[in-house]
Amino acid sequence: MTASEEAELLQLKRKIERDRGFRCELYKDKCLRRRLGIRMRARKAESFAAYAALLDTDPTEYDRLVDALTVNVTKFFRDREMWDVLAAELLPRVLDRPSAPIRVWSAGCSSGEEPYSLSILAHEWAAREQRPETLERLAILGTDIDRASLEAAERALYPPLALEETPEDVRAKWFAPGPPFQLREEIRRPVSFLRADLLCDDPPVGQNLILCRNVIIYLERSVQEKLFEKFLEALEPGGYLVLGRVETLVGPIRGKFRIVSHRERIFVKP
Ligand SMILES: C[S@@+](CC[C@H](N)C(=O)[O-])C[C@H]1O[C@@H](n2cnc3c(N)ncnc32)[C@H](O)[C@@H]1O
Repeated sequence: MTASEEAELLQLKRKIERDRGFRCELYKDKCLRRRLGIRMRARKAESFAAYAALLDTDPTEYDRLVDALTVNVTKFFRDREMWDVLAAELLPRVLDRPSAPIRVWSAGCSSGEEPYSLSILAHEWAAREQRPETLERLAILGTDIDRASLEAAERALYPPLALEETPEDVRAKWFAPGPPFQLREEIRRPVSFLRADLLCDDPPVGQNLILCRNVIIYLERSVQEKLFEKFLEALEPGGYLVLGRVETLVGPIRGKFRIVSHRERIFVKP
């Protein structure tokens, strides 16, 4: 890139931050450029400056851009093996608390499939153990930076693709017939959603389990390290942190967690 293209790109990043609060400089530059490139080609914008001008005249393009930058791909029970370990080993420990509130945080929850998957497993555990009262103490919080995803999460109405990794009996039990498939009210009840930016907002504290999967891969390493500090602060002692399949803890913070499953990227705060 020439110096003037670099300068135009910098202007564009500042504009996106100013207009939409999306802090481009915290994300991996290569990913960001690739995604910007996709939108620019789609709109036949030949320079960063031309694309910036287009954002001013066509607000719908801004929504598409934020969509492209945030990468909202998700599914119920995405990476099934992790959910099997979670159901068999983690969840019984997290849920089997006599009286205190049970707090779970899905950080970067996109359209809700992850926190709702957790709610489904919690309901199945409670039915099996005959402990329905546990569900009344369960609060699952889903946070994301992307408003459109959160609106979809609140609607809880899903296309077949979202249920691709969901066993048929689970779909039949917890969703109304479709497509699209409406998630049943009881699964939605313990789950709430909030728009929050993981990188600058304070984390919700007192968590017993944090899922932050397929979010940090897009972030610069120094930003990842700061985020792990936040997770440590947000977790109760004995609380678990689950990352995505290709993600892991980096930096000195590694010494402050214990590995539960390296394969499934599960860590615990001692
Ligand atoms: C690929 S999705 C992951 C969804 C789900 N955790 C999963 O693994 O299936 C990544 C999500 O992270 C969100 N995200 C990206 N940067 C964020 C930030 N700074 N704060 C909060 N959410 C963010 C995106 O909007 C997107 O919904």
